[in-house]
Amino acid sequence: MTANTAATGVDNMITWEVGEDRILTLTLDDRTQQTNTMNERFAADLGATVARLEAEKDSFDGVILTSAKESFVAGGDLVLLMESGPEDVKKIADGLDHYKDCFRRIERLGRPVVAAVNGTALGGGFEVALAAHRRIVLDAPGTLVGLPEVTLGVLPGAGGVTRVVRMIGVVNAMLQVIGQGQRMKPQQALQVGIVDEVVSTSEEMFAHARAWIQANPDASQPWDKPGYRIPGGSASSSALAANLPAFPANLRKQLKGAPMPAPAAVLATAVEGAAVDVDSAFRIETRYCANLICGPVSGNMIKALFFDMNKVNKGTSRPAGYPERRPEKVAVLGAGMMGAAIAYVTARAGVTVVLKDVSLEAAERGKDYSRRLLDAAVAKGRLSEQLREEVLGRIVATDNVAELKGSDFVVEAVFEDLELKKSVLAEVEPYLSDDALIATNTSALPLGEMAAAVSRPEDFIGLHFFSPVDKMPLLEVVVADGTSAESLARAFDFARIINKTPIVVRDAYAFYANRVIGQFVDQALSMLGEGVHPASIEQATTQAGFPVGALALLDEVNMRTTIKIQEGMMADQGESYVTTPGTSIQRRMVEEFDRPGRAAGRGFYDYADDGARLGLWPQLVDEYHRSEVVIPFDDLKERLLVAASLEAARCLESGIIGTVEEANVGSILGIGFPAWTGGALQYINQYDGGPAGFVARADALRATYGDRFTVPASLRDRAASDQPYC
Ligand code: NAI
Repeated sequence: MTANTAATGVDNMITWEVGEDRILTLTLDDRTQQTNTMNERFAADLGATVARLEAEKDSFDGVILTSAKESFVAGGDLVLLMESGPEDVKKIADGLDHYKDCFRRIERLGRPVVAAVNGTALGGGFEVALAAHRRIVLDAPGTLVGLPEVTLGVLPGAGGVTRVVRMIGVVNAMLQVIGQGQRMKPQQALQVGIVDEVVSTSEEMFAHARAWIQANPDASQPWDKPGYRIPGGSASSSALAANLPAFPANLRKQLKGAPMPAPAAVLATAVEGAAVDVDSAFRIETRYCANLICGPVSGNMIKALFFDMNKVNKGTSRPAGYPERRPEKVAVLGAGMMGAAIAYVTARAGVTVVLKDVSLEAAERGKDYSRRLLDAAVAKGRLSEQLREEVLGRIVATDNVAELKGSDFVVEAVFEDLELKKSVLAEVEPYLSDDALIATNTSALPLGEMAAAVSRPEDFIGLHFFSPVDKMPLLEVVVADGTSAESLARAFDFARIINKTPIVVRDAYAFYANRVIGQFVDQALSMLGEGVHPASIEQATTQAGFPVGALALLDEVNMRTTIKIQEGMMADQGESYVTTPGTSIQRRMVEEFDRPGRAAGRGFYDYADDGARLGLWPQLVDEYHRSEVVIPFDDLKERLLVAASLEAARCLESGIIGTVEEANVGSILGIGFPAWTGGALQYINQYDGGPAGFVARADALRATYGDRFTVPASLRDRAASDQPYC
């Protein structure tokens, strides 16, 4: 074996080791960090390594590229990407071109190169592996590969789009890799065709890499071979031309006009790149990518979906000093819609659940919910029969309170009735372990009053789940006046165990997310009352970036429920409740027209017997639309966003939500506040002119559309001193 030296001097993070078989192993190992990321140091060391590879090419017969960390390479430097603005386009483009140049020189070195992907390789990390002629992936637990850049508002700009298009064709690349940014397990990546081999041990991985190198001394990329054609055809081929028109249409359907530039840029990069030679394609890719990175949306998305999310999930609001605690036996009271689903997510997380309802039949019906979901997962091949049985075996359905014996965690999810909840809690308490944490899933009732029903109010807390529980990632952890810090820590730990993102909120009417969504929905109703055509309201909602139209959303939730929330809000705010031209519309829809929403088959929309949405209820237009009312479309969109953001600012000011990160993440995950904004408070930061620009706009909206746009004092102060939310 020849000398084990760093690629260039002792400081290079890529170690260089030539074996007796003349195979060079390059090991990525940034000793200053836990993971390898594509930071400035990596860029420099890669450049130096490539130069040495070319200079010393005669001293080895092939190259294995691997990593000394648990993951392969974690990806791009997200801080750099987040902070880049329009003035940085050249710098960013140069940075991308540097990687492209290095990767291109590696693949054209004239020596076979194998990426031995020993762990997760996402984004830029996977682009490193794409420079190799072969990718062998170790199927270690949790390993994910793929190019998820589009989910953060950017695109794979270190050669990722160009290479994947040339490996599997434009259509497959778009649908399976770059268009949606799927994160894949190794086996799935193998099926998709972006990796060549999946192995189960590290020894196998290196043995296979060596064998492949020895068997393929002349390896080169397919696109560098004479006569190469892109699978499925280039952009000008008739085969591809037949498929392409569907893409812009699907894109429109997916985004519904939301101002998210990345998906269209990915498509343009793929298609335009497929029409030219590989080196021109790389240049196209750089141009689109640099523009995305330096535009505002990617910064917002990276901040919210990566940095804010990580901070929240790592426990920015979890009190320190309490060791992590996992409940052993969770009692779920009430096996209705929420209780059944809470039991499911808890059992899926490996925890024993007792699901109690008033009758065994009702409890079993609740357990059926888990059966249905597990059966579907088995049918789709996502779950083994054995795991299905294990999960079901963890759920004990019962009507017998004695079965709760020894439970150390309770989630109450019976009807929304204060007296019933109090009596249920008092009934079960004697059966629980001495320090059991008692949680209620009330959507709005005051925790303080409920806490009076239990003997240890310090162990009482709210866990406000969102429906459907198995899909919605957010959980509001509601702290009442008497809740102890330890209880908060335990509730937080439970949330993470069941894979939810917990935000901590104060015990105030409707908590955080529903307050924010309430303002957005009220604006939509106000517009209707003002005479705006309902179709324009729905368009404004989706073009602002919300996932569904505001009126469609009210139909989904059911207006009988939202009226109760509205009434509660009115009672809570008393005189200060601001009415709008839309305040009475829901009541009219329910009481006068008997159209409460989708579940009844009629609401703002008409529905078919199978629940399919048919179209807006024609009479709605007759009742409310006034053609003389002309409101600028930008006002419609921004009223929805601004009203919700103002409420988030009020919640932060009054302590209903404790941190900016939680406010942003909670708005996106809980109510579908548009991800392109970076969340309800980041929307204020990034508004043209920053907080001051936002405040000026809110003041103008207030002058025209009323007091819902009153700016809270703390935000006005921020605007005056140019202090963004951070
Ligand atoms: P649901 O009506 O579907 O289920 C309630 C269940 O509680 C029924 O199965 C009922 O038989 C059972 N129950 C009644 N008395 C009981 C008792 N003494 N012991 C045991 N079980 C008893 O109601 P849902 O929608 O599941 O709501 C439950 C709670 O969750 C409510 O407080 C609600 O406000 C809250 N919530 C509901 C959300 C939603 O989207 N539906 C969202 C967040 C919270």
